[in-house]
Amino acid sequence: MQLELRWPTHLDDELGRQIWAVVTDVVADGGAVGWTTPPSRAVTDAWVNELLSDGSRLVLACRDGEVVALGTWSRLPAEVLAHNGEIRRVMVHRSARGLGLGRRITTALVESATEMGIEQLLCDVRGNNHAAIALYRSLGFQEYGRLPDFLAVGEHRFDRVRMYLPLQMDPAAVRHGSRAEGPGASTARSGAAPSQTAPSPPSSHSEGRFPPDPGEPDAAIAT
Ligand SMILES: CC(C)(COP(=O)(O)OP(=O)(O)OC[C@H]1O[C@@H](n2cnc3c(N)ncnc32)[C@H](O)[C@@H]1OP(=O)(O)O)[C@@H](O)C(=O)NCCC(=O)NCCS
Repeated sequence: MQLELRWPTHLDDELGRQIWAVVTDVVADGGAVGWTTPPSRAVTDAWVNELLSDGSRLVLACRDGEVVALGTWSRLPAEVLAHNGEIRRVMVHRSARGLGLGRRITTALVESATEMGIEQLLCDVRGNNHAAIALYRSLGFQEYGRLPDFLAVGEHRFDRVRMYLPLQMDPAAVRHGSRAEGPGASTARSGAAPSQTAPSPPSSHSEGRFPPDPGEPDAAIAT
C-alpha cells in the first residue's frame, strides 16, 4: 500500500470524483465536516474550486493513487484577523481510518500555515467528536472555549469546542494581552464589576513559541 500527500492546484474531472467520494462517505456516516447531508458533485466541485482560488490550501492523502483523506486551512479574512488561520474539514474515508492519515493531513496543514507566517491556527470541533479532539490535542492544539448547544442538526444539539495552536509570532508584535493599554483601551469606572481575570498563559505560550504573556488585567491597572 502506497500513501502519499498531494497539494492540488487545479481540479479535473477525476480529482473531483475522488474528493466527492470521500466527502459523501464521511457525511453519510454523520461526520461533522460542514454538510448535514451528502452534497452533490456540483457542490463539492464548487467548494474545491473556491478553495483553490481564494488562497486556501487543500491537502489530499492518496492510497495507491486514490484520494482517501483531505483537509484545508484558510487565512481569516478580516484585516485584523489575517495573521490567524483556520483548519477546516479534515476528513478520512471510513476505509482508511486508523492509518495515521488524519495526523499526516493535519500535520501537513500546520506546516503549510507555519511556512506562510500564520501566527495561530484555529479549529472548531463538535463536543461529541472525541476522535477529532484527541487528534488535535495530540498535535498540541488546546481548547479555548466550549459553547453549549451551539450547533443544531435537526433535534440534536452539540457543543462547539474551539481549539487553537500557537505557531509563531511576528517579532515586532507588541502583546497587550488583557491590560488596559494600547489602541482602544479603556479602564472600568470605580465600582464597576471587576474585569475577568485572564487565564494563565497556556504552556505552549510560556515554552517560548510566543513571548511571555503581558499579564493579568488587574495587575496592570494597579501599575
Ligand atoms: C477524526 C479523523 C479525521 C481521524 O482520522 P484517522 O486517520 O483515523 O486518525 P489517525 O489514524 O491519524 O489518528 C491520529 C490520532 O488521532 C487520535 N484519534 C483518531 N481517532 C481516534 C479515536 N477513534 N479515538 C481516540 N483517538 C483517536 C489519536 O490521538 C490518534 O493517535 P494514535 O493513533 O497514536 O492514538 C477521522 O475519524 C474522521 O474523518 N472523522 C470524521 C470527520 C471528522 O470528524 N473530522 C474532524 C472535523 S473537526
